[in-house]
Amino acid sequence: MADLSVNFTGIRFENPFLLSSAPPTESESNILRAYEAGWAGVVTKTIGVHPVVNVKGPKTNFLRTDPATGHISMKKKPGTALHSSWNWELISDKPLDWWIGRLARIKKAHPTKILIASIMAGSGSDEEMRHWQTLAKACQEDGADALELNLSCPHMDRPDMGSNIGKDDELISVVTQVVKEVATVPVWAKLTPSTTDIVVEAKGAFLGGADAISSSNTFTSLPVIDPETLEFEMNVEGYVSTGGLGGPAILPLSLAKMSQMTGAFPEKEFSGIGGISEFAHALNYFLLGCGTVQVCTAAMLDHAVGPNVIKALVAGMEEFFEKNAHRGWTKLDDFRGLRRERIVPHSQIKRPDEAGYHGGYETEAPAAAAGPEGSTGPPRS
Ligand SMILES: Cc1cc2nc3c(=O)[nH]c(=O)nc-3n(C[C@H](O)[C@H](O)[C@H](O)COP(=O)(O)O)c2cc1C
Repeated sequence: MADLSVNFTGIRFENPFLLSSAPPTESESNILRAYEAGWAGVVTKTIGVHPVVNVKGPKTNFLRTDPATGHISMKKKPGTALHSSWNWELISDKPLDWWIGRLARIKKAHPTKILIASIMAGSGSDEEMRHWQTLAKACQEDGADALELNLSCPHMDRPDMGSNIGKDDELISVVTQVVKEVATVPVWAKLTPSTTDIVVEAKGAFLGGADAISSSNTFTSLPVIDPETLEFEMNVEGYVSTGGLGGPAILPLSLAKMSQMTGAFPEKEFSGIGGISEFAHALNYFLLGCGTVQVCTAAMLDHAVGPNVIKALVAGMEEFFEKNAHRGWTKLDDFRGLRRERIVPHSQIKRPDEAGYHGGYETEAPAAAAGPEGSTGPPRS
C-alpha cells in the first residue's frame, strides 16, 4: 500500500501538498477550510510588524492566453486558458496581535495538520533584527510547527526587506541565523527567483542554519499594456509598479531555479513552489529532489482554498503509485530526486557526430567549467 505521508524537516505531513503563503491562508476560516479539504499543511500569509497599506483597487488579477491568436490579457474571454497570476499585494495587513491566539486556535482544532508561520521584518538595524526574533518567538509559542522566512516579497520599496534581503547572501545568512538563535521549530527560508545564481543565496541560507529552502516566490513582472487604451491592464490612476508573476507561466522558470539548488545541495531539504495545479506539475519538483510542494494561484481560482486542486493532487499521487507499483515504489522517497542528475552543462549533451562541442571553447573546457575533478555531472558544492 502506498503511503502519501512525508517527513520534511522532521515534521510529519499526511501528504506532501501545502498551501503557500498568500490569500488562501490569510484568515482563520480559510485555513480551517483548507485543512478540511485535505491540505496537509499551510504556510500563513506573511506576518510582519511594520505598517501595511495595500494599493487602492485590485491587488491580484489573472492573465489569460487565447490559443487562436496568442493574445495575452487580463480581460476574460471565452476559450482562453490561464497563463499566470499577477499581484502587487503586500504581506498580511493584520498585525501580529491579530494572528496570535488564532494560530493557537487553528492548531488546537487540527493538531495533526501542519501550521507554518511565514514571517518578515527588515534588516537595516539591530531593532529590525530583533523584530525577526519577536515574530519567531510569538508564532512558535502560539503553536506554529515551523517558520518560513519571507526573504522574497518582490514589491518592497525598503532596501532592507523582502526580496532585497533575498538578493544578498550575507544578509540572508545573518537573518536566518538571528531567527535560528531563538527558534525551537524548523526554519525554512523562502528565496526570491530574481537573482543571477540562486545557489549563492541558497548557500547563504544554509550557512545561517536554514532547515529547508522554499522556492519560488513570484517573478518580478509588469501587467501588459492594453493596445486600445495604452494603459497598463492593472494600474491606479494610470500608475503601476512591478509586481509578481505566479501560476502556469512560472512552472518551467521555477523548476530551473530549483534544479540549480537541488543539484548543488542534494542532501538538503526543499519545498517546491510555482505553477502547480495538478500532480504532474508537482512530480517535476519531486523528481528534482523536493520533499514537499506548495500551491497558490491554482488554489485562489478554486473556491479560494483549492478543494478540488488538493483532491486532484492526492488522487494523482495515488494513481502514480498504482501505475508504478511494479517498481516497488510505496513512498515519495522512493522516487524523490530521480531526475536531479539529468541536468548537465550544455556541452555534455550528446552531439550528432563524435566531433564534440566544448561549451564554446576550442577544445576541452577549463576544469572550473567542467565541474570538480573534471566530473561529467553537474558542478557540486
Ligand atoms: C496575491 C498573492 C499574494 C502573495 N503573498 C505572499 C506572501 O504574503 N508571502 C509569501 O511568501 N508569498 C506570497 N505570495 C507568493 C506565493 O506564495 C507563491 O510563492 C507564488 O504565487 C508562486 O506560486 P503559484 O505559482 O502556485 O502561484 C503571494 C502570491 C500571490 C498571487
